[in-house]
Amino acid sequence: MSAPKRFQPPTGTRDFFPADMAVRRHVEQIWRQVALRHGFDEIDGPTFEHLELYTVKSGDEIVSELFSFRRAGGEKDYALRPEFTPTLARMVAAHGSDYPKPIRWYSIAPMFRAERPQRGRLREHIQWNCDVLGDPSPRAEVDVLAAAAHTLALLGLDPAEVRIRISHRDLVTLLLTRLGGVAEAALTPALAWLDRRLKVEPAAFRARAGELGIATEALACLDELAGAPRPARALLGPAIDALGTRFGAIADGHPALRHLREIATRLEAAGVLDWCDLDLGVVRGLAYYTGTVFEIHEASGAERAIAGGGRYDRLVELFGGPPTPAFGFAMGDVVIRLVLEDRGRLGPRESYLPRPDAFVIDLAAGAPRQDAVLMQLRRAGLHARASGRSSTNLGKLLGDAAKARARTAVIIGSEFERGEVAVKDLDRGAQQVIPLAALDGALRSILHGGAAPH
Ligand code: HAM
Repeated sequence: MSAPKRFQPPTGTRDFFPADMAVRRHVEQIWRQVALRHGFDEIDGPTFEHLELYTVKSGDEIVSELFSFRRAGGEKDYALRPEFTPTLARMVAAHGSDYPKPIRWYSIAPMFRAERPQRGRLREHIQWNCDVLGDPSPRAEVDVLAAAAHTLALLGLDPAEVRIRISHRDLVTLLLTRLGGVAEAALTPALAWLDRRLKVEPAAFRARAGELGIATEALACLDELAGAPRPARALLGPAIDALGTRFGAIADGHPALRHLREIATRLEAAGVLDWCDLDLGVVRGLAYYTGTVFEIHEASGAERAIAGGGRYDRLVELFGGPPTPAFGFAMGDVVIRLVLEDRGRLGPRESYLPRPDAFVIDLAAGAPRQDAVLMQLRRAGLHARASGRSSTNLGKLLGDAAKARARTAVIIGSEFERGEVAVKDLDRGAQQVIPLAALDGALRSILHGGAAPH
């Protein structure tokens, strides 16, 4: 017989053991809580889609970035979803008319990308999406940006540590055409190349930019504007404060600048503006974006983007739906976790595991008694556990309770014959003997901070 083979998880994927899963749930819970408080309803779609859903907008080049497949004997091509936005746009195109506008939906689900795995980039990650559809006004942007900033704050980060970099594709386009001399036909590849600005060597970037017809003046202006992003508060002042003398005069009065200014005014009222920079260096790589775009980065720029999003006013229409303005964003679990770890904002992994309300110990190791008490507590809605070993050594069993981080120990001893058990508050050390019939109430009173009743 050959030796059993040990399998590793596929490259770029993760196993989540209990403590890792608990940290993941901690982040997901904050996502969910923010989405709920900000009025988004949860949705989901299939994990795989028709391949064409992705190629229709991005062309066949996108296929190399996807996990695509055809079932043995089948005729259709599918792809594991690399992102949620095409699924969302497909769903809204088909059934959006059943819902009052604006639609505000969120999802938390795994996404798959055929990347070369590296720090902050995996082949499977969990992504939180929040989108507002059916609202062309800056309110959509403000609602999404406020939810994003609120999330960062609840995760323990502040505006000195992470920045929301806001931009507008129409302003970047204006810069490319007016200062850069880029022809209309070359705009799409030029925007795509700008998205690579910080990802390729500066010399290689300039060389290819030259080939695309982007004049050096535009690149210099972009370096000036994107090199040191201005606080978005500058949008509340004259155009040259926000965009510099060269470009400010050109962009002044442009509808995109007016749109950004209104966003800034509302973000100020919502107390979110101080998280934001204006950074025309942000253009976003995805082909469907149409207007406002943004990315969230660690302030030092050390990690990849924590989150990104933007307007995609034509995507629902592309999938056969009515014209539907849309704005949204997604945050992945990988980079945010790196940032929180780097900044010491996560406690020990074990501290995220749920703490049992009660750890049931039977000093006579009589399984039926222990099972009866465990089920009594569980039926009462409490989180009850017991040691996996059969022992009568109280010290060892209390050690097991401490390892499980239980809040109380329920000790079944000689009093059990009288219908009583001992309850030990493991955080404060106090111990009481309680009638079994009053056990749930006694535990609740300990758990809610009071001492055990006498
Ligand atoms: P994205 O910028 O491609 O946008 O991804 C959003 C976030 O997901 C990234 O900032 C990053 O945190 C995370 N992410 C993406 N790919 C990976 C990966 N391979 N490994 C780890 N994390 C990753 C979108 O996906 C858009 N659909 C967002 C959107 C929603 N736009 C409008 N609505």
